[in-house]
Amino acid sequence: MQLLTSAKITEFLPEEYKSLKIHLFDEVDSTNVVAKKLIKTDALPFVVIADHQTAGKGRLGRSFFSPPATGIYMSIALGDFPSLPDALFLTPATAVAVTDAILSLTGIKTGIKWVNDIYLNNKKICGILAESQSVDNNFSVIIGIGLNMTTCRFPTELREIAGSLNSNIPREQIIAEIIKNLLNILKTPDDKSFMKKYKNRSILLGKEIYYFRDNIRNSATAIDIDDSGGLIVRTPANEIITLSGGEITIRIKN
Ligand code: BTN
Repeated sequence: MQLLTSAKITEFLPEEYKSLKIHLFDEVDSTNVVAKKLIKTDALPFVVIADHQTAGKGRLGRSFFSPPATGIYMSIALGDFPSLPDALFLTPATAVAVTDAILSLTGIKTGIKWVNDIYLNNKKICGILAESQSVDNNFSVIIGIGLNMTTCRFPTELREIAGSLNSNIPREQIIAEIIKNLLNILKTPDDKSFMKKYKNRSILLGKEIYYFRDNIRNSATAIDIDDSGGLIVRTPANEIITLSGGEITIRIKN
């Protein structure tokens, strides 16, 4: 795969976002970690992209496999653009921005597994990790996106569950499309219409699932996603409860 260049990413961005600062690295530990450091010195918003991560981070302390040249590993750092984004909606907004970018550039329909994973052919191809940071009372958010483009040699423990987009669209074009889609959504913070797409693309609704909280496995049926992004489930005792992101993980029952 071709080397990434920031000039090419900017070329694909629409006029209004061409001035966005893009920090491009061959190798970093984690683009989220680098973004958190840069927030102390750099003006927001900016983007950090790496060709390779040696310690890519996932949710709940997990790692994100990030080999060289075969994926997109990027973090978008935001302050008040145009107002500080509503943390509750950042992950759903990003999931819609990524699935829209894939759809418009490749025609491939991907699914969203609440709350932060993107799936293709029953395999996870993308994860999102939104984090926040406060420096001298200035609050900012870092939205990390890891998308497997052509990764095929996964470690044994990921082989059954991880996949790739397998598209020959240049990584720069997909990166630019994701940035554009996300900033466009965040430009109108009161407009939550993207939640309709988030819900329509959900691969959980109607399915029997396990949800894990504090290492305890619970059975339920996923029935809806509410306007705040919560997953509404029916328990075996016929109770309706709403799960919110945080420390919860979901597995679809086979
Ligand atoms: C997950 O699957 O739980 C989230 C994975 C998020 C991975 C991306 S890759 C770019 C950014 N930098 C990181 O260290 N993590 C995110």
